[in-house]
Amino acid sequence: MFNAVHHRRLFATSARQGGRCVSKNGPLGSVLLSANLIIWHGPIIVRLAEIHTTLLIFGRSVEGSDWIRVMDELNREIARSLEATPELLPFLPKLLADVWALGSSVEIIVDLLRQVGINDSGRVFDVGCGKGAAAVSLAKENGCHVYGIDGFEPFIAEARTRARDAGVAELCTFECGDMREAVLHARDYDAVIYAAHSSELAGRPCVEVLRQCVRHGGYILIDDGFLADGVDSTPPGYEGLLPRDGIVAALTAHGDRVVREVTQSPETWHADENRIVDSIRRRAETLAVLHPQAAGPINEYVRLQEREYATLKAIHMPATWLLQRC
Ligand SMILES: C[S@@+](CC[C@H](N)C(=O)[O-])C[C@H]1O[C@@H](n2cnc3c(N)ncnc32)[C@H](O)[C@@H]1O
Repeated sequence: MFNAVHHRRLFATSARQGGRCVSKNGPLGSVLLSANLIIWHGPIIVRLAEIHTTLLIFGRSVEGSDWIRVMDELNREIARSLEATPELLPFLPKLLADVWALGSSVEIIVDLLRQVGINDSGRVFDVGCGKGAAAVSLAKENGCHVYGIDGFEPFIAEARTRARDAGVAELCTFECGDMREAVLHARDYDAVIYAAHSSELAGRPCVEVLRQCVRHGGYILIDDGFLADGVDSTPPGYEGLLPRDGIVAALTAHGDRVVREVTQSPETWHADENRIVDSIRRRAETLAVLHPQAAGPINEYVRLQEREYATLKAIHMPATWLLQRC
């Protein structure tokens, strides 16, 4: 799951310029926490927003009503990246309770960065880090200092707990915020990770934005996939899935070089995906009983995961690229 091609249009120029959220710096965590509260405790937050007509969000002044729009848009974006609807966000922590890596190939990421010497003095930026699976593993295995940002507060909370439990809390900084803004200001990292995502970072071609986050000679790690050999056409919604050569051409369009390319064995990928979909299905059964009013959307989510998996199995080859900024 989450290798969803429809939100992995990594190399296309986005036409969707509008609706970009929040600006740099500022109290990322608290504001995004509030953003999620909009869903869980909507009326309370709406009243608060009415009282505080102007709010400072990530260093940008936003009118109260605008604030709700900004946060709604971010929640939609987060939900979309997880193949859910905003209404389902409150249930996602439970639905995904047994899944740590939300699409990233953690072992491959750790191994690739180790191979190029990103270790205990390395500074790594994990963009849209989810529950911190790659970041915490990099800190634990390679001793890296990692900074992870994600817009979904429950994931950030879990990432911090995982870092503490793994004994690497001092190497990990996790913040709740909008990655589309964060990438515009991050600079001089030794490596940036972009795993299981959309291309639509701040409305610019993704690789062009990501490469600015690392120093010259630094690394850009893209965990994604390509159109499997022999597949001539893509189903609706998967048009962004390019053949391998098209992806490599886009990756290197700014003069960077591919240092490594790893394709996962389809068997390993299928086994992982199967396990994930099974765990979601089990969690959904319990949740639907506890929350009968939400049973429809919960079951629909499971159905979408199953369909997504079946489609990707037929057309997609998971792959990870390590680029060096030249
Ligand atoms: C498919 S998951 C991948 C997470 C992580 N890279 C992994 O593989 O475990 C996509 C993640 O992107 C986050 N996300 C989506 N849009 C975002 C945005 N605009 N700002 C911050 N996080 C965002 C979601 O909350 C979600 O955790």
